[in-house]
Amino acid sequence: MGREFGSVGVVGLGTMGAGIVEVFARSGVAVTAVEISDVALHRGEVTMRGSLDRAVAKGKLSAGDRDALLGRVTFAVGLDALHEVDLVIEAVPEHLDLKQRIFAELDRVCKPEAILATNTSSLSVTEISVATTRPNQVIGMHFFNPAPIMKLVEVVRTVVTSQDVVTDIEALCERLGKVDVTITDRAGFIANALLFGYLNQAVSMVEARYATREDIDAAMKLGCGLPMGPLALMDLIGLDTAYEILDTMYRRGGRDRRHAPVPLIKQMVTAGLLGRKSGRGFYTYEKPGSPVVVADELTPATSNDSGRPTHIAKVGVVGSGTMATGIIEVFAKAGFEVVSVTRGAEKSAQVCERLKTSLNKGVVRGKLTERDRDAAIGRVTWSATIDHLNDVDLVVEAVVEELSVKKALFASLDEICKPGVVLATTTSSLPVIECAVATERPADVIGLHFFNPAPVMGLVEVVRTIRTSDATVNTATEVCRALAKHAVVCADRSGFVVNALLFPYLNDAVKMVEASYSTADDIDYAMKLGCGYPMGPFELLDVVGLDVSLAIQRELYLELREPGFAPAPLLEHLVTAGYLGRKVGRGFRDYSKR
Ligand SMILES: NC(=O)c1ccc[n+]([C@@H]2O[C@H](COP(=O)([O-])OP(=O)(O)OC[C@H]3O[C@@H](n4cnc5c(N)ncnc54)[C@H](O)[C@@H]3O)[C@@H](O)[C@H]2O)c1
Repeated sequence: MGREFGSVGVVGLGTMGAGIVEVFARSGVAVTAVEISDVALHRGEVTMRGSLDRAVAKGKLSAGDRDALLGRVTFAVGLDALHEVDLVIEAVPEHLDLKQRIFAELDRVCKPEAILATNTSSLSVTEISVATTRPNQVIGMHFFNPAPIMKLVEVVRTVVTSQDVVTDIEALCERLGKVDVTITDRAGFIANALLFGYLNQAVSMVEARYATREDIDAAMKLGCGLPMGPLALMDLIGLDTAYEILDTMYRRGGRDRRHAPVPLIKQMVTAGLLGRKSGRGFYTYEKPGSPVVVADELTPATSNDSGRPTHIAKVGVVGSGTMATGIIEVFAKAGFEVVSVTRGAEKSAQVCERLKTSLNKGVVRGKLTERDRDAAIGRVTWSATIDHLNDVDLVVEAVVEELSVKKALFASLDEICKPGVVLATTTSSLPVIECAVATERPADVIGLHFFNPAPVMGLVEVVRTIRTSDATVNTATEVCRALAKHAVVCADRSGFVVNALLFPYLNDAVKMVEASYSTADDIDYAMKLGCGYPMGPFELLDVVGLDVSLAIQRELYLELREPGFAPAPLLEHLVTAGYLGRKVGRGFRDYSKR
């Protein structure tokens, strides 16, 4: 028979502790919540009540249940209040010496059979455990933020944790309605080891003014379907906590430079900009602890202008692939005249067929009237020669991803198109400046990186080169607005925003499997249930294609020369073996038997 855990203690009522108290109290467990001082205790209680009141206001919790839940919580100052509990979860700041001191004290105060758990994100559970006389009863219980919502708990066993303790904690997680993955003691465990390099890299983009905070966050939300952008997530985690986690991961995790905290984080922590909890971090909040973002001096002015840029009426789209077809649909539906240029009448007929099929689906799903469909088709003219682009106002190139082909095309466009026309490439990996300098008008050349499927995805990365004019950027963003797409402006660097942040994370996940730290299934669970990602990294790799992912990762590595970006050998091997993902029936998973 396993342990019952009738009462638990939580030490530290900050961002995580307050949420962890709520998790236990919601499951009917009596909780003693402990803080270091009356002031901190009061602050923790206010945070917790605020969260519960919001749940009541949203209809997710009844007022009666809230009161019953609060009735199960005893608030106290000092660890002595924990002498009777069966389990303690420590959630104090991420400092090893502090945690060791607390564990030594808990060891003295708590009954001998009590289990002592730490919520550390990056410190060694083993090092914490040896501060006690019962290291076999010390374990990691790593909850995710916000604890009442995120389903995952990483259960961290050290080399001395008893098996019965692991089993009992796993059973407890289930009772709490959580999904656990049990892993060994390594810096960052699964989720943070994959998350924090990405968060740090996003901060470095802000620091380098590569793109704005709003654009980076919007790019990851709209481009990858993440529940929040990396900078908003840094604010939720707390910049002081994030700094400590990165710093520990850097020191414990092989001194990977991608975990060396970006200097801006330290500066913000020193200035008291800790994120939501202090009312200001990357964004400014209504008040400390509030999730409501308010405008500040960095907030971009909102434009009420939803009309079309008057000087863009006719658009040329070059190419006959998936992206070109989607882009034609997007422009035609938004009311632009479109000239489609392919390499021959047969290709044009195929694109036209695919366009009609897609628009018909829209009609069947009730998203488009038959009249709108016919009008959209009527706006497209089909051609097999780029000479017909002599009177368009904007060209979007979506031909094969080969620099020589794109450069030759831009040189021809330069000869054919009117002066002042915006020439855009939808390349996802090549330097836009290469296309620009193939023309005599580099100021008019820009990247318009649509996402697949273009009619569905709400994001366009607007890539300005060092030669692109402001007028061209403005026209491009206005066009995106007319297409009802969210434009994110960024500089001309490999991977732009989305791929530069996404693929290193996917590559890291592959390296984690390669190192036998965890399995593809557990890693997918961890990212979905711990971080709210719509797909786990291995699901996504199989959908995107392992060959495509490898090519993008290679580009990033070659351009940025970051050792941590080197493609995972396992990814290379799978591609060599022809395991390219869903499209061939096998990638990280085998789809042929499903
Ligand atoms: N913030 C996150 O998203 C997140 C997610 C998972 C795990 N964690 C981990 O949880 C732990 C806590 O992080 P946080 O973000 O909640 O930090 P926090 O700074 O928000 O809260 C820490 C709390 O501990 C209290 N405290 C400090 N010393 C104490 C003592 N001696 N006795 C009792 N209470 C004390 C502080 O008053 C504060 O309220 C860290 O180990 C962190 O790595 C954080």
